[in-house]
This record gives sequence, C-alpha cells and structure tokens, in this order.
Amino acid sequence: MNTLGGALDKAAKATENTLERVLPQPHGLHSRIHEAMRYATFAGGKRLRPFLVIECAGLFGVEAARASRTAAAIEVLHTYSLVHDDLPAMDNDDLRRGRPTTHKAFDEATAILTGDGLLTIAFEILSHPETHPSAEVRVKLIARLAEAAGCNGMIGGQMIDMVAATRSFDAEEIKLLQRLKTGQLFEFSCEAGAILAEAGPEHQDRLRAFARDMGLVFQITDDLLDVTSTAEKTGKAVGKDQEHGKATLVSIYGIEGARAEAKKISDRAVASLEPYGERAAALRDLLPFLLTRES
Ligand code: IPE
Ligand code: IPE
Ligand code: MG
Ligand code: MG
Ligand code: MG
Repeated sequence: MNTLGGALDKAAKATENTLERVLPQPHGLHSRIHEAMRYATFAGGKRLRPFLVIECAGLFGVEAARASRTAAAIEVLHTYSLVHDDLPAMDNDDLRRGRPTTHKAFDEATAILTGDGLLTIAFEILSHPETHPSAEVRVKLIARLAEAAGCNGMIGGQMIDMVAATRSFDAEEIKLLQRLKTGQLFEFSCEAGAILAEAGPEHQDRLRAFARDMGLVFQITDDLLDVTSTAEKTGKAVGKDQEHGKATLVSIYGIEGARAEAKKISDRAVASLEPYGERAAALRDLLPFLLTRES
C-alpha cells in the first residue's frame, strides 16, 4: 500500500503543479469563468486518472513533464464531466468533492460554461508541443481522448445512465453503461502512457484491457459506496442511485454479489499487468485499494 500511497500523492502533486500553470488566472471581464474552472478543479479529487497516466507512462520511461501535461488534460476533462453530471437537469447534486457543486457555488449558467471551458482546455493542453514534440503523437492523444469522451464514449454512457432510470437493465447492459460512462476515461488514461512512449499497439491494447477491468471495479465500488457509505466519507451525496431508480450491479446482484463480481474482475486486472513485472507495482496495488476504498 505504501508504494501506492506515495505514487498517488506524487501523481496528484505533479498534476496540480501543471494545472496551476495551464489554467488561466482570473482576468478580464470574464474572470468569473476562470474562477469557476479553478473552483471545480482544485477541490481535492482523488486524481486517479492522472495517477494512471503517470504510472502507465512510467512503464516506458516517458519524460515526466509530458506525462503530467497529459494527466492534467484528462483531469480537467473528468472535472468537466462531474460539473455537468451534478447539474439540476442531470443528477441534481449539491455536494461534490466535499463542497458545494459548481452550480451551487456559482450559478447554473456558469456551471455549464465551466464544463465547456474545462472540456475545451483539455484539448488545448494536449495540442501544445510541450505535451510531446511529435505532432503525430499529439494528434493520436487528441483523437483518442475525443473518442473516449464523446458520444460513443463517456457521453454515450451518460445517455445510457439516463435510460437506466426509466427501464430495467440486465447485468450485461449495466456493464456496457459502466464501460462507457466511467471506463472510457480510464481506458484513455492508461493507453496514453503507451501513446506518449510510441510503444506500439500491443502495449496500447494490453493497458486498455487492464483499464477496462479496473474501471469496472472502480464503478462497482462507486455504486456500492452509494448504498453503503456516507456523504461525509465520499464528499458527495449517497443513496442517489436507488432514489432515481437507477439500475446498477448492486441492485441486480445485491451488496455481497457485487463485491464478489468486483473481486473477480480485480484479479483479472492484476493478472493482465504481469508482463510489466515490478514496474507495475503501484498499478497492481491500485486494485485492492479500489475494492476497499471508502471515498
Ligand atoms: C467520480 O469519479 C465519478 C465517477 C466516474 C463515478 P471519482 O471518484 O474519480 O471522483 P474524484 O475525481 O475523486 O472527485
Ligand atoms: C458520473 O457517474 C460519471 C460521469 C461524470 C461521467 P455518477 O453520477 O455515478 O457519479 P457520482 O456518483 O455523481 O460521482
Ligand atoms: Mg450521474
Ligand atoms: Mg452523479
Ligand atoms: Mg455514482
């Protein structure tokens, strides 16, 4: 766990240093948008996606500054997804990362623009030569992130999540929902390491398979926490899935069944890292952490 704790802290710090530089300081007539983007971003999330980028890039010895910029890009894109997910028209949540959601702290229109601003700046960060000197690599990162975040990726998953509140889903449908809604950004995060390293498609595929399983474990735990945890621990409201009649693996398998499913998928994720040996120690340790996390 020590390897993991240290690696999570290190990734969070490197990403936050980069975010501090790339997110505009409030200025001009539109300073409110800069303030809101910073409010949503510097709110103490777990920074899991940056950790994945940095650790996967580390498998291939990618230069730290390149990994940190890519980590910053995925983190602002993820933060955008949270700001919009919490809006009254979506999950209508008041609490995020332990404090008022952006539309509560500012207003709804500002929260919509904040999401738009964070989404857009993610691609600006990736397109900068400091992210990678090769334009081809930068375009690959941009194309993969657009695909992962877009209408057949995370946004598609958010759409299915809305449908999930209106009719019953079977386990396979729920897993598809999760693979899109949550899994796609994890897949990008892991694959980005191999793209930055120009390591070749077999590494991209292997890391993507790892991310797919890891993402499922993460989302099953998110759904479990929604049932078993408190707002104090998670920094966001709980009990929402049942309240909105959302099908999850917990609603189908029950708490113990969902835990068992998560454990099975977790073992498969760990096994897929075998070729990387000790270099993947922190990535491997992430799985038991995800199974037992409380926030
Ligand atoms: C929450 O993600 C949203 C989901 C995809 C379930 P995280 O649990 O990674 O949120 P932060 O970044 O730590 O706040
Ligand atoms: C959010 O899923 C997923 C995205 C923002 C893409 P949830 O709605 O389950 O996340 P929480 O529980 O509000 O963090
Ligand atoms: Mg939601
Ligand atoms: Mg939500
Ligand atoms: Mg949730």
